[in-house]
Amino acid sequence: MDKYAVFGNPIKHSKSPAIHAQFAQQCQQQLEYEAILAPEDAFIQTASTFFAQGGCGANVTLPFKELAFAFADTLTERAKLAGAVNTLIKQQDGSITGDNTDGAGLVRDLMKHQTKLEGANVLLIGAGGAAKGCIYPLLLAGAKRIVVTNRTESKALQLAEQFASYGEVTGCGLNNTPDIGFDIVINSTSSSITGEVPDVSPTVITSCLVAYDMFYSDQQTSFLDWVAQHNQQTQLIDGIGMLVEQAAEAFYQWRGVRPDTSETFRLIRG
Ligand code: ATR
Repeated sequence: MDKYAVFGNPIKHSKSPAIHAQFAQQCQQQLEYEAILAPEDAFIQTASTFFAQGGCGANVTLPFKELAFAFADTLTERAKLAGAVNTLIKQQDGSITGDNTDGAGLVRDLMKHQTKLEGANVLLIGAGGAAKGCIYPLLLAGAKRIVVTNRTESKALQLAEQFASYGEVTGCGLNNTPDIGFDIVINSTSSSITGEVPDVSPTVITSCLVAYDMFYSDQQTSFLDWVAQHNQQTQLIDGIGMLVEQAAEAFYQWRGVRPDTSETFRLIRG
């Protein structure tokens, strides 16, 4: 049977095995997919062994996405721009391609929620790896302008500079975020993990149609709570759909078949 896996640390609570098992069943693909705990200092070794023993592909999650980038023999354009790899694909010649499906997953999930990206003004909060992976896919999907705002302003400026040749991308600090009438506000920071909210003025969500938190949990996230307090018209979306969609995109890269994510989404949301 074709072997796939997800590498991470920690990995015990990963939903990826359940998601891919559902995809395989639904698409009638014979494969096995397991969660593998890679030691913090031995990702490359663990991944090499997996592929040497017949592994066909893998997902990579925290904290190994940058190491997976270095591990891959070749990279897709979107992985190069993200500077990180979440999907490894073994080619027929045995070489390993590194891809990044996170940004495409975000865009697909937004589209599933009927969000209009074409011509949109997007506020992207955060300038870490999660933000970096979604700028190019958002521009490709037609976003008109992306403002990257971050607690550490210099990181936002640096990120914006890196993508400036791909579209209208600018950077700023949280407290000097320009109020340009954002259609979509995306929280890519890890603030919701601790129940915090980025310290940005609520005026940035005055005209906001959609607020997206890449984080998800059983309850509404602290960021989405904050948005709801300040603008009751805004559609609230958390990151569970992005998780399912990035997985579907990886599955498609491996198997050439695109799963229907609606059923999987219901299963994972519970
Ligand atoms: P990831 O790869 O998940 O993006 P990261 O690279 O560590 O993780 O980046 C975390 C992001 O969340 C950063 O933009 C960080 O802001 P700083 O660059 O100023 O550190 C942001 N972040 C984390 N906690 C935050 C909080 N409580 N308020 C605002 N921003 C926060």
